[in-house]
Amino acid sequence: MLRNGYILFIFLLPAIVAGTFLSCFAGDITVTGCTKLLQAKCLQCHPETRICQKLEKKSKRAWKRTVKRMVKKGAELDTEQQKMLVQCLSKPSPEVVQYCQQ
Ligand code: HEC
Repeated sequence: MLRNGYILFIFLLPAIVAGTFLSCFAGDITVTGCTKLLQAKCLQCHPETRICQKLEKKSKRAWKRTVKRMVKKGAELDTEQQKMLVQCLSKPSPEVVQYCQQ
């Protein structure tokens, strides 16, 4: 009996851990990394208004240049994150637009 309980525990534990872990992230599925990245990486130096006012005004190439320039200034973004930001700033993703309207 004790042994069965132990085995059950061993099997349940990863499921519980995984469940807790997944539920932590489930709420973030609609908010993809973009606004998070913006908040985490871009707001140390200037407020988001600086970025938001340029949302509809820059082409993809222009955003690419801007993001590269920000990286030179000290924004910590790997290449994947840079690509992602350029993507969601140049054809503003709904998430970013909503973020900027707040
Ligand atoms: C290390 C500080 C720093 C970080 C981090 C930073 N910026 Fe900047 N940003 C600046 C400074 C300084 C200026 C004004 C001078 C300039 O435009 O070069 C600026 C200006 C801007 C402008 C207005 C000028 C333009 O080219 O339209 C935009 C847009 C912008 N930043 C976007 C971003 C984005 C997006 C991020 C995050 C990836 C970011 N910044 C992170 C320092 C930073």
